[in-house]
Amino acid sequence: MPIIDIHNHFFPRSWPDLAERYGTPDWPWIKHTEPGKAEIRVGHRFFRNIYCACWDPEVRLQEMDRDGVEMQVLSTTPVLFAYERPVEHALDCAQMFNDAALELCAQGEGRLKSLCQVPLQDIDASCKELSRCMRAGHLGVQIGNHVGEKNLDDPGIVTFLHHCADVGAAVLVHPWDMLGQTRMPKYMMPWTVGMPAETQLGIVAMILGAAFDKLPPNLRICFAHGGGSFAFLLGRLENAWQHHPVARGICELAPRAYLNRFFVDSAVFDKRALQFLVETMGAERVMLGSDYPFPLGEHGIGNLIRSSRLTSRAKEQLLGENALQFLGITRSKEVGDTGAAKPATPNVPPGGQLSYSSYLQVPALLELQHPQSSPQHHDELLFIIVHQTYELWFKELLHDLDAVVENLRGAGAIPDSRDEVYEAARLLRRCTEITRVLVEQFTILETMLPTHFLAFRGKLEPASGFQSEQFRELEFLCGLKDEKMLRYHRPTPEAYAQLERRLREPSLHDVFFEALRAMGKLHVDGTATERERFDARARAVLSLYRDEHSNRDWIDVCERLTEFDELVVSWRLRHIQLVERVIGTRMGTGGSAGSSYLKLTLDKKFFPELWEARTLLTE
Ligand code: HEM
Repeated sequence: MPIIDIHNHFFPRSWPDLAERYGTPDWPWIKHTEPGKAEIRVGHRFFRNIYCACWDPEVRLQEMDRDGVEMQVLSTTPVLFAYERPVEHALDCAQMFNDAALELCAQGEGRLKSLCQVPLQDIDASCKELSRCMRAGHLGVQIGNHVGEKNLDDPGIVTFLHHCADVGAAVLVHPWDMLGQTRMPKYMMPWTVGMPAETQLGIVAMILGAAFDKLPPNLRICFAHGGGSFAFLLGRLENAWQHHPVARGICELAPRAYLNRFFVDSAVFDKRALQFLVETMGAERVMLGSDYPFPLGEHGIGNLIRSSRLTSRAKEQLLGENALQFLGITRSKEVGDTGAAKPATPNVPPGGQLSYSSYLQVPALLELQHPQSSPQHHDELLFIIVHQTYELWFKELLHDLDAVVENLRGAGAIPDSRDEVYEAARLLRRCTEITRVLVEQFTILETMLPTHFLAFRGKLEPASGFQSEQFRELEFLCGLKDEKMLRYHRPTPEAYAQLERRLREPSLHDVFFEALRAMGKLHVDGTATERERFDARARAVLSLYRDEHSNRDWIDVCERLTEFDELVVSWRLRHIQLVERVIGTRMGTGGSAGSSYLKLTLDKKFFPELWEARTLLTE
């Protein structure tokens, strides 16, 4: 079982002068005092001594080896959260440190992963930054246990946590900005007294404020430092809940019933406290967290768990098994079985330069083909590579179409601006070119004789194109949303959550017509039927074409969208031809009727109004 430390911190070796960058005082900065040592200062105030394990992956990996730790999941330090600052500064700061975290992890031989930070004072900005970070390789997010006066049951924060569940992000809640500081000016009491109380407050607010009732059960959330004083005082909380209606809050169940909704880490520094924590929370809810490499962290990471009187099974759970679940990763996928982890990010030697191979991760890429036939059938490699190539292009299409959606949204917000419309058309052109290649690519697979495919087809069941998450995402993103198709993704909760999110979000179709509405081209009465709405949309497109001189850029977007629609239908048709050429009219491995089912999809169009407008033009 891997040993995974989910709570530890980093600081980059250096970063820009934030006070100068944002024109406001009292930002954290780093002062290198001697080789390998530094101070963090906040404005003129001393904050903390740190050493090179914060920024030097080589030192960190050596110390992980020393302590037998296979993987660490790094977070920034709450002093960088900037929740009280203007959102644009907090976002910029978050992006800077989030990217720095990935750079550090890239040098961690696949053994370093990261949680990002977000400007939690602004929920939209936080959701966007989290999504960006998840795409870039973070495993989740570290948040503070409150934002000013707002606790974790604040509706905005609950919305953000919902988004975390949707995108499969693990959430680590870290106490910060401690209460009662004027009464705790000395002896590090904000850390030893304030932090445990803050964490307890975070958990209690989520329980009593019904946040857990509102959030989906697939949210993976963990509270640092053993959940602060929560476990020890749970009896008191339950007692109040049972006997004082006013103490009940608005939750549906008694507090103890929510223990299976969150994790805590093991940073309690006392064997009896750990034993009690495990007895209260359950061995499946506590994970190794060290607070390394800070002075208050565990020296000899994992020793508290190893030397405790927990059963060996419980130790396994605490040291790594629970973390795999919390982080939403599998051992085989993220952590090597031999103890040496597989590189997941460019493997650049410290101080060295990127090479073609490390940048593109060629060795990892070439490791990803695993034919199932035995003895291996010659053509199975082709079958795998063609599918993988499609999936890579699907990824690029999603990336570009997401940007098109943003551009059209921008165009709707400022109807006179032309830049976004131009950019949308430019990116759509790329999408059509990619799709053209995807239509063509089937011919390569047609060099495989049907008999050769049948020789290994039996090994594929029940895997099927129905399970291509990205293909379905593309359909949902463009506007063809069919909730029924989610059922093929039930076995993979992250894919399921991602598709559910796509179902909820405005599609390309939605933002395109919203922009036309904002421009005054589309008028729909609130009482209109679905058919009347469709006609209104088609007529809005018609009005663009009828005044070509004024609408050239929008007509360009329409043409690109039409071409994309056309090419996706071509893809469907070529796929059917391939299917018939290889398996005739047999059933698919996904259980459908095969080509006769696929033929029904030929009528699917993302933008039927663009086609209808052509009929109207001839009126
Ligand atoms: C020998 C080659 C192939 C055969 C025999 C084949 C067969 C099938 C069949 C029968 C289906 C219907 C679902 C089912 O019952 O499984 C299907 C769906 C699908 N296939 Fe393929 N396929 C092949 C190659 C490909 C390739 C190269 C791709 C590229 C990504 C692909 C992507 C898909 C997708 C996305 C679906 C779902 C389509 C939808 O729901 O509209 N297939 N395939």
